[in-house]
Amino acid sequence: MMNLPENLYMGRIASYWWQRDNLQYKKKELHCSGKNLSERVDLFDLPCYLYDFDRVKENISRITRFGQMGHTSFYLLYAMKANRFNPLLKTIALDTSCGIDACSPSELELAVVCGFTRDRISVTSTGVSHKDFEGYSQFNGIMFNCDSISALKKIKAGRYFSNTGLRLNPARGVGYNDNPLVHYSGSKATKFGIYKDRLEEAADYAKKSDIAITGLHMHAGSGFLNTSLDAYRENLRFLRSACSLFPNIEYLNIGGGLGIPLTKTDEKLDLEMWSRVVSEELGDLPFRIYAEPGDHIVKDAGILLAQVVEVEEKGGTTFVTVNAGFNVHPEPAFYKLPLEPVPVRLDDEKLPQKKVTIAGNINEALDIFNEDQQLEVKEGEIIAFLNAGAYGASMASAHCLRGKASELQL
Ligand SMILES: Cc1ncc(COP(=O)(O)O)c(C=O)c1O
Repeated sequence: MMNLPENLYMGRIASYWWQRDNLQYKKKELHCSGKNLSERVDLFDLPCYLYDFDRVKENISRITRFGQMGHTSFYLLYAMKANRFNPLLKTIALDTSCGIDACSPSELELAVVCGFTRDRISVTSTGVSHKDFEGYSQFNGIMFNCDSISALKKIKAGRYFSNTGLRLNPARGVGYNDNPLVHYSGSKATKFGIYKDRLEEAADYAKKSDIAITGLHMHAGSGFLNTSLDAYRENLRFLRSACSLFPNIEYLNIGGGLGIPLTKTDEKLDLEMWSRVVSEELGDLPFRIYAEPGDHIVKDAGILLAQVVEVEEKGGTTFVTVNAGFNVHPEPAFYKLPLEPVPVRLDDEKLPQKKVTIAGNINEALDIFNEDQQLEVKEGEIIAFLNAGAYGASMASAHCLRGKASELQL
């Protein structure tokens, strides 16, 4: 018999847009990180998140490599709000090239417990109370970025820090395919950072209060791909121009937001192009440059496995309902950011013919994972939602008391 390629499917070489060396079908069974998921599903308590730590490490080293092409003093911070699975944080902490971005006193404490030293920790937090500052100021030696003039005033009143960074709002959003839900900056005012019109006031206030502004920070949105690089460049220019108001700058933090493709029509973010933009706009500056992505480090390293509990036609639509909902992974329902649903086992008899809507098991109309999805599955089958590693478990809620998904390292 002829030796057929492993992923020959219904006479065609199946090539999936999300496929990579350590994530693909082999003999119609989904494999990730060298493990056959279809063979192991019975071992998992579903719904369940599976994380591929090797992929996280690869992502960290790739971004760092390109970041260093953009600036010789480039450093990566992982935005832990994306995924705070403790074994994952501990693994990242072992890689001394990567620091961490925390956004609340409890995240900061967890980062320290998981092994991040203070010189590798940056905190950028919004709505910071005196109680929060009391928590943060226990950790001398971290980088802290103020998000408002009011926060600067609290620093002075409580003598929390003698220096701080300032988060700026560039008034220009970048994000996944112009999705307004993931823009943190834009024509409509957002709560983040200090706008250009109050920068001088912030500089004057810091000066007369003996608070040294040692860093400038921005984060203008999440999930951006190549199409947003022009807007991103403008934001870097804004950050650069603001340096003239602050004589003590030691670092610029250019935020996160680096996206990955979520559908087959998304064009991948070209990190080489990204690093060129960083180099052209900031490459000659004598400061340390930090980026703090979450998504780009963990999103494609996580899979959410869920079981199909119902397949039924309602009002002319076929609903495939799974045993997880937006309580387990809120991004599809809340931010319209799709996960990619694929069966853990392909079946020759059932090439997807029709489109279905994949729904969750929460009693809310918006609890939908995918619409118009070409997928044919029956009750009891397991769906693997790909690109589920970020803002899933970390944003899970107790809604309807449906319970949490379990989390495992692959
Ligand atoms: C201040 C800040 N930095 C970094 C991030 C990480 O963003 P992303 O996961 O899109 O890279 C966020 C996300 O909300 C953020 O608010």
